Amino acid sequence: MKLLTEAELIWSPIVANNRMNRKRVANGVNSYEKELFFNPTTYLNDCLSKRGVVKWLDLCCGEGNALIQYAQGLTQQTGVTLKGIDLVDQFQEIPEAVNCLTFEVRSLLTWEPTEQYDLISCVHGIHYVGDKLLVLANILAALQPAGIFVANIDLNNIQGIDVRQLFAHNSIDYHARRKLLTCKGPRHIDITWTYLGADDQTGPNYTGQEAVTSFYSLAT
Ligand SMILES: C[S@@+](CC[C@H](N)C(=O)[O-])C[C@H]1O[C@@H](n2cnc3c(N)ncnc32)[C@H](O)[C@@H]1O
Repeated sequence: MKLLTEAELIWSPIVANNRMNRKRVANGVNSYEKELFFNPTTYLNDCLSKRGVVKWLDLCCGEGNALIQYAQGLTQQTGVTLKGIDLVDQFQEIPEAVNCLTFEVRSLLTWEPTEQYDLISCVHGIHYVGDKLLVLANILAALQPAGIFVANIDLNNIQGIDVRQLFAHNSIDYHARRKLLTCKGPRHIDITWTYLGADDQTGPNYTGQEAVTSFYSLAT
């Protein structure tokens, strides 16, 4: 089996294709609320009413519709920071009336957090990332003290390391049936493994779509 480097992976037809669903909104039929079993709008509005500020980072945001829908539903945008990151520039145009939202084209592998967020979401994005554990470690360090990270992840796409044990050790919740990772508050994870590379030929995961499997060995 030939493992791909990050540079090779971003050109893989499994990662960069137009068949994947990049259109989800925050709430409604084709939505984050449905995929995450969590209502981002209710949570963010609650943060905003309690503290007067709120920050949401949506990783692998696709067209950015979830962020746009949330922004458009706000009665006022003061104190609100919304950011979307995706490998591919397929973002919808930001409506003129929205001034709290930015999009950035980049790979999560080159993203290093500089801020802390109340909500970090990654809806069906981790499936396509190479070094998933490095990305997860970066994300978890970027949460506000009561911030929430929520993401879809299939543990079959991480090989060579006992991920369940890693999550349990760091008090990270993983819902096996829903394939949902949830973490409240930041975590600082010691990287005790070596990333070997990724395979884009392992076939569909639980979503029914082809995904990328990441391989690790325990560092000696
Ligand atoms: C299935 S789509 C989901 C998009 C959006 N979250 C939604 O639910 O509508 C997965 C997204 O992950 C993005 N992606 C894949 N690998 C990535 C990477 N290494 N860094 C950033 N984005 C990535 C893809 O470009 C795609 O837009």
